[in-house]
Amino acid sequence: MVSEQRIFQAYYTKSEPIVSYMIDLLDLNGTETVFEPCAGDGVFIDPILDKYQDIKIDAFELNENACDTLKSKYQDLENISIKQTDTLTDLELEFLCSMGGKYDAVIANPPYGAWRNTIDRATLKKRFNGFYAKESYSLFLYRSIESLNEGGKLVFIIPDTYLNLNMHKGIRKYILSTTRIKEIALFPSSYFPGVNFGYANLSIISLEKSSDYKSNLDNTFKIIKDYKTVEELGSNKLKHLTKLNIQQKNVLNNDGYIFLANANPNVSACIKQAKTNIGDICDCVTGFYSGNDKDRLKVLSKKIRNSKRYDEVEKEKITYDCSSRPLDGIENGKIYVPIVKGGNVRYYKADNWFMEWSSDLVRFYKKDKKARYQNPSFYFRKGIAIPMVSSSSITGAIIENRLFDQSIVGIFPKKEDLIYYLLAFFNSPTCNKLIRTINPSTNNSSNYIKVIPFLQPNNKQKKVITESIKLIIEQVKISGDYDINLEAENNKMIAVLYGF
Ligand SMILES: C[S@@+](CC[C@H](N)C(=O)[O-])C[C@H]1O[C@@H](n2cnc3c(N)ncnc32)[C@H](O)[C@@H]1O
Repeated sequence: MVSEQRIFQAYYTKSEPIVSYMIDLLDLNGTETVFEPCAGDGVFIDPILDKYQDIKIDAFELNENACDTLKSKYQDLENISIKQTDTLTDLELEFLCSMGGKYDAVIANPPYGAWRNTIDRATLKKRFNGFYAKESYSLFLYRSIESLNEGGKLVFIIPDTYLNLNMHKGIRKYILSTTRIKEIALFPSSYFPGVNFGYANLSIISLEKSSDYKSNLDNTFKIIKDYKTVEELGSNKLKHLTKLNIQQKNVLNNDGYIFLANANPNVSACIKQAKTNIGDICDCVTGFYSGNDKDRLKVLSKKIRNSKRYDEVEKEKITYDCSSRPLDGIENGKIYVPIVKGGNVRYYKADNWFMEWSSDLVRFYKKDKKARYQNPSFYFRKGIAIPMVSSSSITGAIIENRLFDQSIVGIFPKKEDLIYYLLAFFNSPTCNKLIRTINPSTNNSSNYIKVIPFLQPNNKQKKVITESIKLIIEQVKISGDYDINLEAENNKMIAVLYGF
């Protein structure tokens, strides 16, 4: 059963500092017509009314119960209109948007990742110029900007993924060309009572609609971050806050129009100016999925973390040496091959997991709808495994003669002699700064890894780092640990090469 709270994504903004910061950003004078596209229980409406009793507010809410509560709460106020409707498909709203909008101000905390069935998503995508419809908050943002009149203001609290994720490229272009952004505050989702999604931070964006494309490009806005507490929102003068002044045309010039919000200008400049990226010198691919890991994936011992659901492998049936690259499976009974899974381990992962790989099963994997026998030309080759999701920093471990699963991005340098240098690079703070600037969430999907800038080390740097990484790998194989001084030296050389 999907709960009502999950269906409607009804996480109300029960935080006084967030609400008052957002209302201050609207800078109302009481004569406006305001739109609240997903009103909940009226968290934004009440404080606006406290200041301006006669202000006109149109509030939409999809949930019948919430809507009834709103109607009875504001029944005596003629200036407040409540409508039970789906903001994303409301025809009247769509019509007034097509006429150029009518609202002076919009304020919202729209549903994030709202639950919709797939037919619904396909219709939405059509209706919203092909914008990505899985994450509905960007559609609320799009529709709300449309609903503003010229010069109308908008303040939204939403996850920060629209600033960087590939799928939100369309909405970025739309915002950058049809509005003047005022400021974007970035802060942890834990500031929001009852919400803490690990995958991203929250943002409050404020902007003004403008049809003057040229002045929009010239507009400079602020990204503000490094708040220590939620109460600091709006206190822009505090010294410890990072404030970046960014011109909209510079964002539009970035690949995919991404907002580069790294305080160190060297990092952003490196990304913008790079002539060669990881994607130019490496193949970056995701790995294998059996379609039914519970039956097909085996673990070396029950002592291994997260192994509860899996059976122990029959050790005499393991083929450790897969250098013959058995892409069509194994005939001789030693049917289990080592596979590298997600989990943040640096440099070398012990062989703890094994995939059933008999010829019969591989034939099945190739045809099965659930299985993913994808990018097989890279199976059992020498490369670097990067977990798709990193806990804190990005990590990489060597893969050789093994499979890698779909939670891993396998990196295969076109020139094999770069492999140890790159292994050091992917484990370095320099690389972490680059990927977290390209995409601040903890996601390392191949699309982001491919655009990390690559600077060629000179022969000496490559040689020293290669030797040191080989030593580190040997140490990890023997003891599970390594000399952190070696790692620190590598990191220093890479920081010198990149300048951060
Ligand atoms: C995250 S809550 C925020 C509510 C309120 N604005 C606040 O900040 O406390 C989102 C609200 O949007 C409503 N909602 C969800 N999908 C909607 C839709 N398609 N159209 C209108 N409202 C919707 C939910 O019922 C919920 O009350």
